Amino acid sequence: MRFDNRLDPLVEEIAQKIRSCTKCNLAEGRLNAVPGEGPQHSDIMFVGEAPGANEDEVGRPFVGQSGNLLTELMEGAGIKREDVFITSVLKCRPPENRNPDKEEVRSCAPYVLAQMDSISPIVLVTLGNVAYDFFSTTFYLPKKTVGDVRGKVFRLHSTGCKFLLPTYHPAGLLYNRKLIPDFKADMATALRYLKIQ
Ligand code: URA
Repeated sequence: MRFDNRLDPLVEEIAQKIRSCTKCNLAEGRLNAVPGEGPQHSDIMFVGEAPGANEDEVGRPFVGQSGNLLTELMEGAGIKREDVFITSVLKCRPPENRNPDKEEVRSCAPYVLAQMDSISPIVLVTLGNVAYDFFSTTFYLPKKTVGDVRGKVFRLHSTGCKFLLPTYHPAGLLYNRKLIPDFKADMATALRYLKIQ
């Protein structure tokens, strides 16, 4: 796996734009925007839904309970958290952790797409329905729920990223731990696809 522990100017430039963004109403209620974190050159990029209270407080992605589970499961599969880029479709916390609305997703979409272009991961892993819904709309993939498509690998064209792999959101795994073996299998699939280019 390629490894570079710094955010280089391009990803950092995007992060600065996100931190000062006022494109939607979520800017008013945030403590911190959460651009995401990880090396400029990451083979795997994880994309969740939106920051929660813990992430809003510190400005970093997946630092609460579901983040701890995500870290535990990826590291258990042999994927070091510091080797991958982790972000979400929305960069600011929706009030009471409600689902992002269409307008918020539309405003925020250029950021995650710019991050994807800049990082050019081999595999983009979408976590949960909101992230899969966003990328399936953007790249004309089947409109299905994560339960139906998880673990399948979609070849992406005309983007810097080669493969998209949907899986469950770790918050869902906290509620239903029976899904954890599927999530582990999906991490193994992501690693397998790093070698298929
Ligand atoms: N859930 C997400 O989708 N993103 C985060 O950063 C934290 C929790």
